[in-house]
Amino acid sequence: MKLAGKTAIITGGGGGIGRSTAVRFAKEGARVAVADIDAAIGEETVSLIKRDGGEAIFIKTDVTDSDGIRALIDTTTSTFGALHILFNNAGVGNSEVRSVDLAEDEWDRVIDINLKGVFLGIKYAIPELIKAGGGAIINTSSLLGLKGQKYVSAYNASKAGVVMLTQNAALEYGKHNIRVNAIAPGVIDTPIIEHWKQNERKWPIISRANALGRIGTPDEVANAVVFLASDEASFITGATLSVDGGGLTF
Ligand SMILES: NC(=O)c1ccc[n+]([C@@H]2O[C@H](COP(=O)([O-])OP(=O)(O)OC[C@H]3O[C@@H](n4cnc5c(N)ncnc54)[C@H](O)[C@@H]3O)[C@@H](O)[C@H]2O)c1
Repeated sequence: MKLAGKTAIITGGGGGIGRSTAVRFAKEGARVAVADIDAAIGEETVSLIKRDGGEAIFIKTDVTDSDGIRALIDTTTSTFGALHILFNNAGVGNSEVRSVDLAEDEWDRVIDINLKGVFLGIKYAIPELIKAGGGAIINTSSLLGLKGQKYVSAYNASKAGVVMLTQNAALEYGKHNIRVNAIAPGVIDTPIIEHWKQNERKWPIISRANALGRIGTPDEVANAVVFLASDEASFITGATLSVDGGGLTF
């Protein structure tokens, strides 16, 4: 097992990519703290893990709230004894409009969840990872953090920010044996893309816009996260790994 003896926090652990990764982490031997703003789906992830004999707890968390993030980390370490892995994965899309039509509130909401949420996770997890003698952080960026797309200005900016936060934290904490990497998923079959699926004109184009000509599954992303969290990635830090079927090169 690749993560035996490790404790991991996964934000957005009730959603598509977060849930798949939480289940995979547990199968690889990790004790998992599932954090999500939505208690119903977060608890469901925990039930799936326990059903398979894994160890997990749910902690209701809003990643934009620093008290909530501190409580998430405190509860995880008091329950499991230490923290070794943080998957900063919670995120939202923005309503698709041109920048001049994007409400300021909407900009703030997307930047707060997608970018400030990652910053707060890093800020409060690092001291615990240092105490544990090192660890791994994986942040969820996006293909749209590496490539501009019309009508998603806040999302584009937030996910590009995640790439730089990743490099920054990798540089600041490498000496403490903490590796910090990001994943950049392309179009993955989760609830976040439901509105695209409903768009009969755009979906046939969006769903094939990569080298492989299909969308990805949450499990395909989870495989990459397990790798980056594990010792197999021991010399990889500051990287952003595309998990996009070749979407960036398309
Ligand atoms: N699915 C894709 O095509 C795709 C592509 C690139 C990047 N991503 C990114 O992957 C990550 C996971 O998304 P997903 O595709 O699994 O979608 P999802 O909607 O299934 O999961 C997102 C999860 O984040 C949670 N969340 C939202 N706001 C939160 C908050 N303030 N605090 C805590 N939790 C909160 C949601 O409840 C949900 O469980 C996101 O960061 C998303 O931007 C997804």
